[in-house]
Amino acid sequence: MIKQTFRHWLRRIIVWATAPEATRRDFSRDLFAYPMLNALVEDAAMALGPQQRPPYTWGMAHAAYLAKNLGIARITAIELGVAGGNGLIALDRTAVWLEQALGVSIDVVGFDSGEGLPKPEDHRDLPNLWAQGDFAMDEQALRAQLQRAQLHLGLVEDTIPEFLASDHAPIGFISFDLDLYSSTIPALALLEASPDRILPRVQCYFDDILGFTFADFNGERLAIREFNAAHDRRKISQIYGARFYVPAHYASANWTEKLFLAHILDHPRYNDYDGLVRNPRLDIDRPNTPR
Ligand SMILES: C[S@@+](CC[C@H](N)C(=O)[O-])C[C@H]1O[C@@H](n2cnc3c(N)ncnc32)[C@H](O)[C@@H]1O
Repeated sequence: MIKQTFRHWLRRIIVWATAPEATRRDFSRDLFAYPMLNALVEDAAMALGPQQRPPYTWGMAHAAYLAKNLGIARITAIELGVAGGNGLIALDRTAVWLEQALGVSIDVVGFDSGEGLPKPEDHRDLPNLWAQGDFAMDEQALRAQLQRAQLHLGLVEDTIPEFLASDHAPIGFISFDLDLYSSTIPALALLEASPDRILPRVQCYFDDILGFTFADFNGERLAIREFNAAHDRRKISQIYGARFYVPAHYASANWTEKLFLAHILDHPRYNDYDGLVRNPRLDIDRPNTPR
């Protein structure tokens, strides 16, 4: 116990002492929220090490910050496609950390078949890359490592409608990593949630869109195009130039091209002030960098 407490405080002192200058400075005079949010991303990376993923932290930090500015106390962060669970564990740990930093509670939910990929149906599922049963899960081993995350096992075609009908906190962040077009289509139903169950803008991460044989007419990119074509008031758009808005040393990381926003245009709060441009005329409570 004493040893654990000593380790805990030693770690905190190291994190503080080695934190980049930006994380220790006063952000209250910045025009934009990006430096403060980036400092959070860097602090989380330092504190959690390999148990976090920078794109997840970035997306969750922005989601929680939007919620904070809208006065929403609790949000949901989702991973679609869990497999071994490294991504869900990252969401799990980061949610706890960000909650302390920003004061917004974050529920974490993972969706997976539990049995690896379903059978690719046709060329849209890229059977040249994926096969049935790829990425199986060791459920027991994974559950033993989760702190708060809820695991919904079964095909997303079944589990997502159940989730949408449940009493969940507004969706703020989604990582799409189901690999298949035919799985991503039903998963996108999450973005049809009623306005009280979703933030007006949802941070989305699409894992399978760069390199290999991914294209506009297969996989996640095709699913996004079809979703946009089918919805007048809900649209998914890449965050253009995201690499200019993440911490500088991540600027050439490929994940900066995988960051999207779902715009819930019919959300009654879509046009409310979101805190990204920190207008000094508005008396908005500015979050502190956590220590
Ligand atoms: C690449 S893995 C996910 C990896 C994980 N996100 C990570 O970063 O550690 C893709 C997962 O999607 C799941 N999956 C694909 N289609 C699915 C569907 N229709 N329903 C449920 N799970 C599905 C598979 O079980 C597989 O484990």
